[in-house]
Amino acid sequence: MWPYPKIIAHRGGGTLAPENTLAALRCGLAHGFQAVEFDVMLAADGVPVLMHDAQLGRTIAGRGAISSLSSQELALRDAGAWFSAAFAGEPVPTLADVVAFCMAQRIWMNIEIKPAPGFEVATGAAVARLLRETIAVHGDQGLVPLLSSFSIDALLAARDIAPAIPRGWLCKAVPSAWRAQMLALDAVSLHVSHQHLTQAQVAAVHDAGYGVFCYTVNTPERARELLAWGVDAFCTDRLDLLGADFAA
Ligand code: G3P
Ligand code: MG
Repeated sequence: MWPYPKIIAHRGGGTLAPENTLAALRCGLAHGFQAVEFDVMLAADGVPVLMHDAQLGRTIAGRGAISSLSSQELALRDAGAWFSAAFAGEPVPTLADVVAFCMAQRIWMNIEIKPAPGFEVATGAAVARLLRETIAVHGDQGLVPLLSSFSIDALLAARDIAPAIPRGWLCKAVPSAWRAQMLALDAVSLHVSHQHLTQAQVAAVHDAGYGVFCYTVNTPERARELLAWGVDAFCTDRLDLLGADFAA
């Protein structure tokens, strides 16, 4: 039911590096993580880039929508200085660059499709197209990524373009109509906040044949409890407290 890694570095390097950058991926790798979650959004030129917020201001200085800047403009923006001076100048990477890095380093990817409002279908389609083409050229190298999204439209668009790339549905809490939605998405896993999850829900989702992924688990006590419930995987910000081999 869960052929993927169990402990995953959230946004690349969790709290140890600026989120959704190549520096974060290198940091995760340095901490022994060969499995990563990151967020993907479309730049103005339709190129998927790593980004969490739809607006400038938190990780990139300035105001306005990320979707108003091209991927080349975003590559020139500083996505590291907000975190610390040591990371100043770290660019916004494209998904293509990150996929190439992960494949070269044998890092498994949970790619969260994070569309800006109004770009749901376009983002899901662009991510799926890029992965389909990459896998067609290089093969999956035994590292088929898992797509996930809160956006049903993004997941359906990804399914239409690359049905063979597995999908997980992201929810804050397990919704009452989860079974029908999982079927409609042809998803393999349900991704929920651990704060809204019960042991009975884990069992029910497993009984239906789906994996359970939790975000974002940052204490060893809670991680142990969730693993004891049978949760298949979780992402963490605390690479320093929860090692990649925590579940072993
Ligand atoms: O994919 C799980 C988690 O990353 C969802 O929340 O806001 O950190 O993208 P967020
Ligand atoms: Mg995310």
